[in-house]
Amino acid sequence: MATISKIALLTSGGDSPGLNACIRAVVRACVFHHIKVIGIHRGFEGMIDGDYFEMGPDTVSNIIQRGGTILKSSRSERFKTPDGREQAYQNLLKENIEAVILIGGDGSFVGSREFTSTYDIPWIGIPKTIDNDLSGTDLCIGFDTATNTVIEAIDKIRDTAESHSRLFFVEVMGRDAGFIAYHTGIGSGAEAICIPETKNDLENLLSVLEKGWSREKSSLIVVIAEGNEIGGAIDVSEKVKEKFPEYDMKICILGHVQRGGSPSCTDRMLASKLGVAAVNALLKGEQNIMVGEIKNEIVYTSIKDVKKRKLQITDSMLELMSILSSRNV
Ligand code: F6P
Repeated sequence: MATISKIALLTSGGDSPGLNACIRAVVRACVFHHIKVIGIHRGFEGMIDGDYFEMGPDTVSNIIQRGGTILKSSRSERFKTPDGREQAYQNLLKENIEAVILIGGDGSFVGSREFTSTYDIPWIGIPKTIDNDLSGTDLCIGFDTATNTVIEAIDKIRDTAESHSRLFFVEVMGRDAGFIAYHTGIGSGAEAICIPETKNDLENLLSVLEKGWSREKSSLIVVIAEGNEIGGAIDVSEKVKEKFPEYDMKICILGHVQRGGSPSCTDRMLASKLGVAAVNALLKGEQNIMVGEIKNEIVYTSIKDVKKRKLQITDSMLELMSILSSRNV
């Protein structure tokens, strides 16, 4: 077992539900193993500015259920520069930090990769992003809660859409990947799903909408990932309007509501397991890895190999989308 007496902990990038549960787990595991924890405020920005404070059991009591991050977060431009990283390193040295635990997404892992390729302080990463688009884990912290938030919203939209016989375009987050859109589209019984990973969305969409409208004219819901190839909800609705000017259409962009709220039990479990796993990894002498969970097992992936991933569209997923949407319309 490696001896380690002081670590730094930070959250970086877009926030996601479950960050506080993860912070709590890291701090509690450190207290258990007699390791001091220095919390860094505002992600890499705070690391550069020396915005540090000591954390103990009291600083993490009663936070497991809270959305957001008590450490605050940022997307740092300065950390992308060698000067910014050098300043951050000097601050870590001044505080005698022996290792860093980073709870972050794709952009944060790029930052940690740059840092660890130059400096000798080991890092352990924990994956979080509501987009769920990181390799090395089945689920990222926040995805489960975000999809539940979306489902709840779409169920409500369905009520009003049904009352007015309207077509709704619901835009969900997912800059580069369609995990949220695919899962919530299936989970809400949407008539169509538009994601960055599939082609010819417009043609398919127009034919699904035409059939659906002519058959029942009750309500139609299209879930669209913001990074969809043929555009977000506004663009797609304009294209559909050209073909079907008679349809009564509305747009709902769910936006940052998806990033807030109390984490689901699944996210609290995942955050707790990965927080403890990160501290265990350090004690085992692991360096510069991300902890993840694949098929219920904790796995380590070198920070160098953590990549942004897309939703892998399989034939069975296409079948699911097409069977369920044609049944609905
Ligand atoms: O957290 C990831 C993500 O939700 C993306 O899907 C979205 O495009 C982006 O964050 C929005 O980030 P910001 O809050 O910086 O606008």
